[in-house]
Amino acid sequence: MLKLTVKEGSILRERIDAILIGIHEDAIEKSPLAAEVNRLLGGAIDKVISRKGFTGKVEQIEVLETRENIPAGYFILCGLGKADKAGLEQIRQAMGRAVLRARDMGLKRVGVTTTAFINKTENIAVEDAGRAMAEGANLALYRFSKYKVKENSNSKNIDEIRFIEEERKSAAAVKIGVEKGRIIADSVNFARDLINHPANDMTPTILAETAKKMAGANRIKCTVLSRPQIEKLGMGAYLGVAQGSAEPLRFIILEYNGGKKGEKPVVIVGKAITFDSGGISLKPAEGMGKMKYDMSGGAATIGVLRAASMLRLPLNIVGLLPATENMPSGTAIRPGDVLRSMSGRTIEIISTDAEGRLALSDALFYATRYKPRWIIDIATLTGACAVALGNHAIGMLGNDKELKDRITAAGDKVWERVWEMPLWDDYAEQIKSPVADIKNSGGREGGVITAAIFLSKFVEDYPWVHLDIASTEWNDKDKAYMPAGPTAIGTRLILQLLMDAC
Ligand code: BES
Ligand code: MN
Ligand code: ZN
Repeated sequence: MLKLTVKEGSILRERIDAILIGIHEDAIEKSPLAAEVNRLLGGAIDKVISRKGFTGKVEQIEVLETRENIPAGYFILCGLGKADKAGLEQIRQAMGRAVLRARDMGLKRVGVTTTAFINKTENIAVEDAGRAMAEGANLALYRFSKYKVKENSNSKNIDEIRFIEEERKSAAAVKIGVEKGRIIADSVNFARDLINHPANDMTPTILAETAKKMAGANRIKCTVLSRPQIEKLGMGAYLGVAQGSAEPLRFIILEYNGGKKGEKPVVIVGKAITFDSGGISLKPAEGMGKMKYDMSGGAATIGVLRAASMLRLPLNIVGLLPATENMPSGTAIRPGDVLRSMSGRTIEIISTDAEGRLALSDALFYATRYKPRWIIDIATLTGACAVALGNHAIGMLGNDKELKDRITAAGDKVWERVWEMPLWDDYAEQIKSPVADIKNSGGREGGVITAAIFLSKFVEDYPWVHLDIASTEWNDKDKAYMPAGPTAIGTRLILQLLMDAC
């Protein structure tokens, strides 16, 4: 287990394997630590600059040996980019790259100090810097090796990242930030674990049990509904999705009451399709295995509740996960079928592969029971999201300007950025049905939007935002602090929104 510790002292006197130093592009002389290291090593940084072209660009990283001038063995220099553009994201990325290099080198204990990562002109508070550094490191070092039983190729591990601060006051602030960052990143990694599990080991039943266990350890109330109760509630749309699967469905309710009694809760609804084959409207075989990640919205929701409780946020927060598989079988729903949702609305099935909105519609309607302050749903909802936005933006649609603005601001802070798309009535035409109240697919054009319009029918007049994470949930290539695989995107975004709402 990775330990993150904070102490007061002088980093150059610390007994550690390496010191990580963030360097702003073309501004090495402005970093007091870099300048001192340069002097200690007889101009070694100057040499790296002139010989290797290291200038502090965002992706650059260089290792210097300390040659026994100080107890630490190495300096790892990592670029922060141009000082006037540097912010928390550059800090997270530089930390991520630096700790990965340290791990590759087989190092165990590394030291950092926030002053080497903050550009003084940027006005970044030390607490925020500490949080960003802890997040960057903890997110970057994530690995999922549960199923590598015999050939565990990479067993190198960093044991400790030690924050060493010159001043007592900043050590205290950094300690708070590091603790927040640790909790948040651990919760993202918790969600990543849920997503990484293959569908045979992350069935709705197992997901519910895992949520229950997490809740029990964190003062969260967890209620799991199964078929008889879900039938009684009349969740015909959600039941329709589940009816082709041999795995029983589970409606997972998480309630964290950190706010005042009676205070309106924020309800988060997470899509939790543990495997999406498409059903009778079967998906193509290629890449279908990835559809184990169709429960990512649900995983992010669990991650948010976990962190919110550990951070003791003074809010009431509810998480709702309509968990089920979407499978083809003799009992599965067919295109052309009509389902009756809990809201009373009837839905004509055009494609059984548009299952997410079916499960979500009943969960969203259930959410209105809480008379919520906000409803936020998060879902790997449409392939169209990748066509519209590529892999860098979360699709955002909603009915409340204030909530959308808050989410946009939170996304910019944690670099889980959203981009708004229109929820105009004009698009509703596409999901009008000749036989039922509404149909579950509006065709290819504007797929993100018609899906969101469908959802909007079930939230009554409550302030609501839908986040489509279909194109941002999976990383094909390693990034600075996002190893290839599930990103659990949305976890940090929603947490930031909640933290800013306190
Ligand atoms: N889970 C998928 C969306 C998806 C596709 C997520 C690719 C990530 C990558 C969703 O259930 C789905 O199949 N949506 C259909 C909707 C269509 C039938 C209206 C889609 O996008 O093709
Ligand atoms: Mn689908
Ligand atoms: Zn799906």
